[in-house]
Amino acid sequence: MHVDEFLRNSQLAVSEKLPYVGKDRPLMKLRQLLRRLRPGVWSGWPEKAYQREGYQQRLQAVEEHLSECLDEAPAGPVRILSMCAGDGRDVIGAVRSHRRRKDVAAWLVELNSQSVELGKGYSVNAGLDRTLKFINADATIYSTYKNIGAADIVLVCGVWGHVPANEKSMLVRAISTLCKPGGVVIWTRGTSKGIGRVREIEALFAGTWWDKGRVTYTADAAWAIATYRYRGPAHELPADGQIFNFQKNAG
Ligand SMILES: C[S@@+](CC[C@H](N)C(=O)[O-])C[C@H]1O[C@@H](n2cnc3c(N)ncnc32)[C@H](O)[C@@H]1O
Repeated sequence: MHVDEFLRNSQLAVSEKLPYVGKDRPLMKLRQLLRRLRPGVWSGWPEKAYQREGYQQRLQAVEEHLSECLDEAPAGPVRILSMCAGDGRDVIGAVRSHRRRKDVAAWLVELNSQSVELGKGYSVNAGLDRTLKFINADATIYSTYKNIGAADIVLVCGVWGHVPANEKSMLVRAISTLCKPGGVVIWTRGTSKGIGRVREIEALFAGTWWDKGRVTYTADAAWAIATYRYRGPAHELPADGQIFNFQKNAG
């Protein structure tokens, strides 16, 4: 099924349009160029962030969710896709000692080249360099995924807080195109500014093709980690178009 048809038939709000296609294309291209020119704002982020207890708790919870999804994955190859992957330590941490590790093929899309280089080094150290493919590219545009395809497990960790409010539903929709039927998404959402932020994302998934699975909270109550399963149809990825505009600390 083509995504346009899928979107028309889906239970997502019909008033939501695909962003930045057609007449908005020049604006989309300009934003893509600016993002490419300013990747350095995230340099060193994983090393600094993961020194903090809260992020360590979040990492542990994401690894647990991912490990559980691997436990439940049907026999055969398991495709993992991480959007805005950082240095990939969550995927590496969960896959390296998992009994399904030989079945895994993972694509980690990250714009910051420093994090990508670090991640590649970690994957070599973990013996996962043939399993993990880091893609140093913009995760917010559909065209990045054209040679990847749909995944069994999609990770969207540390991302919602950088998606403008009116574009969050676009990301939910994109995840529906990036996830195979029966597959799962694992996402995180900060809760230090209130549980409402989690409820907002849950509401976007409610009434769509997604079934809510496990939701856990870190001991410091700063993060929610959620797994949702996709019950919708398979469909083609849009060849082009903006998924959302990554805006640091959008809320
Ligand atoms: C809060 S960090 C989360 C990293 C990782 N998912 C984690 O949880 O450890 C956000 C990441 O998004 C990356 N990023 C920002 N804009 C991006 C874009 N347009 N495409 C891909 N990655 C991007 C940053 O470089 C940073 O590594």
